[in-house]
Amino acid sequence: MLKIAVLVGSLRQGSYSLQLANTMKERYINKLDLEIADIRSLPFFDQDIELNPPQVVTDLLRKVASADGVFFITPEYNWSVPGVLKNAIDWLSRVDKVLIGKPVLTAGVSPGMMGTIRCQQHLREILASPGLQVRLLPPAGNEIYISSAALKFDESTQRLVDESTLRTIDRVVEHFIDFARS
Ligand SMILES: Cc1cc2nc3c(=O)[nH]c(=O)nc-3n(C[C@H](O)[C@H](O)[C@H](O)COP(=O)(O)O)c2cc1C
Repeated sequence: MLKIAVLVGSLRQGSYSLQLANTMKERYINKLDLEIADIRSLPFFDQDIELNPPQVVTDLLRKVASADGVFFITPEYNWSVPGVLKNAIDWLSRVDKVLIGKPVLTAGVSPGMMGTIRCQQHLREILASPGLQVRLLPPAGNEIYISSAALKFDESTQRLVDESTLRTIDRVVEHFIDFARS
C-alpha cells in the first residue's frame, strides 16, 4: 500500500478541496494510505529559522520524506496557488529538499467554470524548480480539474458524488499507482 501525504490548499472548514481529499481517502482505502498534512500551523517561511525550524515544520518535512508520493489538492486563488500552500511548498523546498524525485499528483476544485487550470499550471511550474524537482505524474490524460463544484459535491455528506468525475479520478489514481511503483 502506497503512503501518500496530501497537501490541501484551503484552510476553510467546508473546503471543496478538503472534501475531495476526504472522498479520495475513503474511496481508495484499499490501495492508498492517504494522510492529510497539517499546513495550517506552519509559520510563514523565514530563512532565518530554516536550519532550526519549529516542530510543525519538522513534522511536515518528515511526513513528506517518508511518503511514497504526495497529492496536492487545491483551489485556485487569483489564477494561482493559494498562499498557504505556497508557504508549505517553500518550507519543503529547503534544507533536506524532501520533494526531490517524489511522485506527485495535482488536483483541484473550483465552483467556477475553469476548474483550477491556471492554478495547476502554476503549481506544476513551481514543482519543477531546483529545490523541488518532483517526479510529476505526466498531466496528459491525468488532469483533475473539477469545475462547477456545487453540482458535484453532496452538501450533507461533504463528499464528491458526481459519477463521471469519480470514474476519471479512479483512472488517474490507477495511473499514479503504476507511475509511483515504476
Ligand atoms: C482570494 C480568493 C481568490 C479566488 N480566485 C479564484 C480564481 O482565480 N479562480 C477560481 O476558479 N476561483 C477563485 N476563487 C473562488 C474559489 O475557487 C472558491 O472560493 C473555492 O470554494 C475555494 O476553495 P475551497 O472550497 O477548497 O475553500 C477565489 C477565492 C478567494 C477567496
